[in-house]
Amino acid sequence: MFETLNLRKVDNLLSLMQAFRTDQRPDKVDLGVGVYKNDAGDVPVMRAVKEAEQRLVADEESKNYVGIAGDAGFRELIPGLLLGADHALIGESRIASIQTPGGTGALKVACDMLQAITPGKTLWVSTPTWANHIPIATDAGLTVAQYPYFRGETRGLEFDAMMEHLRANAQSGDALMLHACCHNPTGVDLSSEQWKAVTDFVLDRGLLPVVDCAYQGLADGMDADVAGLRHMAARVPEMLIASSNSKNFAIYRERTGALSLVAKSKIELAATFAAAETVIRSNYSMPPSHGARVVSTVLQDSALRKIWEAELTDMRDRITSMRSGLRSRLQALDVEADTSFLTDQRGMFTYTGFTPDDVHWLREMRGIYMAGDGRINIAGLGSANIDAVAEALAARLA
Ligand code: LMR
Repeated sequence: MFETLNLRKVDNLLSLMQAFRTDQRPDKVDLGVGVYKNDAGDVPVMRAVKEAEQRLVADEESKNYVGIAGDAGFRELIPGLLLGADHALIGESRIASIQTPGGTGALKVACDMLQAITPGKTLWVSTPTWANHIPIATDAGLTVAQYPYFRGETRGLEFDAMMEHLRANAQSGDALMLHACCHNPTGVDLSSEQWKAVTDFVLDRGLLPVVDCAYQGLADGMDADVAGLRHMAARVPEMLIASSNSKNFAIYRERTGALSLVAKSKIELAATFAAAETVIRSNYSMPPSHGARVVSTVLQDSALRKIWEAELTDMRDRITSMRSGLRSRLQALDVEADTSFLTDQRGMFTYTGFTPDDVHWLREMRGIYMAGDGRINIAGLGSANIDAVAEALAARLA
């Protein structure tokens, strides 16, 4: 019976990790999966996280279930982290968060909820978008439609084309997926003026925004990165926010995320929350506990929170310096192509515009691994490899 399974190929990010591990070349470079690495190329446990874990081991007295919606302490912290503690939605009790297994779990619950509201509902996603967005949405039964986003020639945003396309095609009741910051895979974000324009359009057309907030804190700061999201959240009647703490706490394997529901009123929020719980119960029943407890332990303790903030700032600064370091090296190599995209794009990812041929050449000839679409994880660069990477990229940048 199993031979009739029609398996879709898993996106290349995961096979890339495997191929990198088995590559025997000592100078190989991993610019693939989106994890933060330090200058030595390690994916370290943050000090604040380590300390929180030690406290949890000492203090945790039960391994009883956490409940469908997850850890209460964590859930209470997420709206403030996303929107700022003084955001109107919090005062109006119009937002509630549910702990999910990673940001991916939140997206899956969000898509199942959309499908429960209207089977086959249309979800608009950017071109391109994270490799897992479309599979998650289509597996949930949604119809996926795409809007223009990234312009290859400028390696930047094509905002006019995006809005024109949405104006011509998006229907009232459709859902619109946006990336809060550090757009994956392009690193190209909306400006605050553009967030305002999209918010006006969402209201005018009657769309439901679904915001993926996986990299908060990795571009300009925990608040600055979500200014556009905060503006939109203050104005729209309803919204879904899928967020991840895997990245900003570097606890990838602990699968720590949240789905935040924004409803028109406190009463509607309670009903929406119950609907989300129904979807979760028949999916994974209840989330794991550890990552959420780590996050809440850090955020609730002012000393630990300070350590975490400083560590996150270091991560962000290192990414920024790798961006400018790569650019200046390419300029020193007299690359003719405009390299401003390297410092204009935000967060971990840079979209190089490399073709599959370029990506293949860089991997085979230079041992440089990147996603098949030409996405580079800037955090994979370090003092030991940045010169070699610059030299290899210079050979292919047009
Ligand atoms: C990425 O895009 O590299 C990360 O979100 C990891 C993943 O699961 O794809």
